[in-house]
Amino acid sequence: MPEWVSALRLLGPEFSQSEELWIAELPRERAADVMARLRGLGFGAELAVYVRPRLKRPAIRDGRTREARARRDSTPGFTNRGVRSDEEGRFSLTPEVLALRLGKRAEGHVLDLSCGIGGNAIGFARAGCRVTAVDLDGTRLAMAKHNAKLYGVADRVTFVQADARTVEVDADLAFIDPPWGGDYNKTRTTLEDLPLLADVLDRGRRPLWAKVPPSFDARTVDASAEAWFGEAAGDRHRVKFTLLRF
Ligand SMILES: C[S@@+](CC[C@H](N)C(=O)[O-])C[C@H]1O[C@@H](n2cnc3c(N)ncnc32)[C@H](O)[C@@H]1O
Repeated sequence: MPEWVSALRLLGPEFSQSEELWIAELPRERAADVMARLRGLGFGAELAVYVRPRLKRPAIRDGRTREARARRDSTPGFTNRGVRSDEEGRFSLTPEVLALRLGKRAEGHVLDLSCGIGGNAIGFARAGCRVTAVDLDGTRLAMAKHNAKLYGVADRVTFVQADARTVEVDADLAFIDPPWGGDYNKTRTTLEDLPLLADVLDRGRRPLWAKVPPSFDARTVDASAEAWFGEAAGDRHRVKFTLLRF
């Protein structure tokens, strides 16, 4: 387990560490649930799950069904009524509570290089930062503007329709939540899968924080990594994204 993932948060309090293994004695159902939750998760490395005695197929299947059901109760995006969104915006929105928490770690002027419908930009602004929010897509940018008004932070955010690669704005911190490419089943992703992030990095923007999928192999970049978990019952033990700090 990489150091930047809280193993206890991921696995639950029953687990304890013994050398390279995290071990717990669990009722069969709980073991099936943990197994389902860890399925396909690798953080870029190999994460192997052993259950002894082996679980029978129906128990594994039931665990997967419970996991799929639990996923429906996930940490909400925007909670204010009246927010505007399109499908991609809703799908890629950073949960409100996590965006605000991230915002509280920043200060000064933040440049959000791919703001979408504004999840992070609004989080930074609510935490007191001045924000320049950039997106290539004008429709989504207009939605972000509307949403910022709804959250009472429009006066702290400047919206710019531009390409993140070429936008020329100086800031204390740049943040990027690039498109993740749509394949959420990959067990390992790198900069090759996130070309927008790769380009922004190549252009030397620093300091830069990036929100990348949990499958990102953080060993392939020169950055500190941190796994961010959900808050709702259905994703409290699930890594929602990895934060890279360059
Ligand atoms: C993952 S979403 C951002 C979600 C946002 N952080 C939120 O929580 O609402 C990625 C956004 O990047 C935008 N995008 C894609 N290519 C871009 C580029 N070259 N420059 C700026 N924005 C770009 C897309 O239009 C999309 O809205």
